[in-house]
Amino acid sequence: MIQSTKTGADPLTGQDWSPSSWQARQAKQQANYPDAVALQDALDELSSLPPLVTSWEILTLREQIAQAQNGSRFFLQGGDCAENFAECNSEVITNRLKVLLQMSLVLTHGLQKPVVRVGRFAGQYAKPRSSDVETRDGETLPSYRGDLVNSFEFTPAARQPDPRRLIQGHASSSMTMNFVRALVDGGFADLHHPEYWNLSWVQHSPLADEFQRLTDSIGRSVNFMETISGRRAGNIKRVDFYTSHEALHLNYEQALTRKVPRQQGWFNLATHFPWIGMRTADPDGAHLEYFRGIRNPVGVKLGPDSNAARLLNLMEILNPGSEPGRLVLIHRMGAAHIESLLPPLIKAVQDSGQSVLWVCDPMHGNTETTATGVKTRRFRNVMNEMETAIELHHQHGSHLGGAHLELTGENVTECTGGARNLDETDLNRAYKSIVDPRLNYEQALELAMLIVRNFERLAQ
Ligand code: PEP
Ligand code: CO
Repeated sequence: MIQSTKTGADPLTGQDWSPSSWQARQAKQQANYPDAVALQDALDELSSLPPLVTSWEILTLREQIAQAQNGSRFFLQGGDCAENFAECNSEVITNRLKVLLQMSLVLTHGLQKPVVRVGRFAGQYAKPRSSDVETRDGETLPSYRGDLVNSFEFTPAARQPDPRRLIQGHASSSMTMNFVRALVDGGFADLHHPEYWNLSWVQHSPLADEFQRLTDSIGRSVNFMETISGRRAGNIKRVDFYTSHEALHLNYEQALTRKVPRQQGWFNLATHFPWIGMRTADPDGAHLEYFRGIRNPVGVKLGPDSNAARLLNLMEILNPGSEPGRLVLIHRMGAAHIESLLPPLIKAVQDSGQSVLWVCDPMHGNTETTATGVKTRRFRNVMNEMETAIELHHQHGSHLGGAHLELTGENVTECTGGARNLDETDLNRAYKSIVDPRLNYEQALELAMLIVRNFERLAQ
């Protein structure tokens, strides 16, 4: 195990914390590497590689999350359940960016507020699994834990955790990051040209027409503003994009946790916004220990087993100073349970006087398996959970400030329902995910429109 020589008091709690102090706790969902020396070599190499993001960007994101907390921004987080190395290519990255840009345009226009755009990409390579092993036809092998750890193919060699994948994970993350930065800085996100974001496979869709009308009207407003002011609206040519991933693989995260000149404390420089998954959000566990010491804004998934006492405990560990912009609570209860499970959590946060950003993940509580064994989600349930979340926060004097979604710009058929009313037989046609089913472009855009309609209804 990697050991940091640098320890020090946590700037927030005054307690001792170091990037490696999590190692004294129980770490769930970690890979079992057969060769400790090879692992250490890879981690040493990783520790010397350049970071993927900067502390300035991280602190700017914190400010924007604080604004989403007070309702002056909306937080949109989306991307694949798991990225994989083979799909670190131009088309997949561009298409995913297009969907997120289009959704954010719908949201900005409809909600009349800026959107904080956070991709689930450039590092979403490690996955928690319900079992350590998988058995097929009598053969038992280690489970696939994401491309950062092993390969999906069901052979002993492919499923063996390989530490060189940590280096590949860093490389693929930085290639993704580099391309996204070049696209958004180079004019791809220019509001003068929303046609750049059209996806070639979407034709004759009623949603595409609605989106076209929206971009035409925005284009006319931009032209009008420019004509009247006599100036070209420069700052609408580029947008901010942030990255996020589930910071599951703690050795990897530790190796990219750094101090930077003229800043206090430690930053996870592998991503702007790391989050803790539902299965590793144990207050006494290693993940909480790691997360409490970094200065990034952090997310925590809250599943159906959450309760008020545990939530207060998590908040005390992660944000004892109740700093705005630090803590994002992402609830994922399932459409059938949100109504009974969410209100006590909202009340607990209100009673504590703490400030958090509430985000709804309407995906992970609505996963089901068809009779033929295909993992899917019904768009109707995803929609219901989102609508109910907006409504419940409003009813209880709280505010839903964002959405966390699994989506892709590829023409997949993984979730049923939506504008083209996909059914179970469609799932065979273009099911590509090797983990969770994602919304395709049309379903994602439809959800953005639905979010707008629901907030508009509350405002009436
Ligand atoms: C995920 O976001 O892909 C995930 C595994 O979520 P959760 O931790 O909420 O189950
Ligand atoms: Co998932």
